Amino acid sequence: MLTVAVLISGTGSNLRALLDAADDPGFPARIIVIGADREADGLAHAEAFGIPSFVVPWEAFDSREEWGAELDAQLRVWNPDLIVLSGLMRLLPHDVVAAWAPNIINTHPAYLPEFPGAHGVRDALAAGVGETGASVIVVDDGVDSGPILAQERVPVHEGDTEATLHERIKPVERRLLIDVVRRIAEGELDLGARPSPN
Ligand code: GRF
Repeated sequence: MLTVAVLISGTGSNLRALLDAADDPGFPARIIVIGADREADGLAHAEAFGIPSFVVPWEAFDSREEWGAELDAQLRVWNPDLIVLSGLMRLLPHDVVAAWAPNIINTHPAYLPEFPGAHGVRDALAAGVGETGASVIVVDDGVDSGPILAQERVPVHEGDTEATLHERIKPVERRLLIDVVRRIAEGELDLGARPSPN
């Protein structure tokens, strides 16, 4: 059984979908802990499912590196096989990526490498494209630049706002994320070995 830690910043709707999927005894992965960089609304899903959670508050640290060191320490307590960034709106510092790569994946509301970064939906709208998409990638040191594991196109409709377009993208993100986690757990997708922890 693949053990998974999920990190969030927001409402956790993608997290919720993964929790629902993993609730099926036939699903080959189990979410063992949920972490956040703030008192995120999505932590309520952890409570609803009886799953432990932790917060490493971004504001409490002087630097990204110090914040990351505490996040890493929390993750090591649980030692998950896979870390899923599901709307975590922070870049992980190099040391955290190095410690857990390649077993960190991220969902992104655009068809990478198009529109990376924190405003993927807004940027697609501003560019006036007819379609954007959703992607699931392996996290590396760049901004949404790691290997693409799954992606799908999503149309932009006339009159779309950032909110309406994002709501059309999110169900696709959820489906892709659940499928990627399942494929990793079943060995169909091999991310490669994690270097031994130091
Ligand atoms: C997702 O679109 C994610 O890719 C983006 O933020 C959204 C997370 O939403 N970075 P939620 O917290 O899962 O509702």
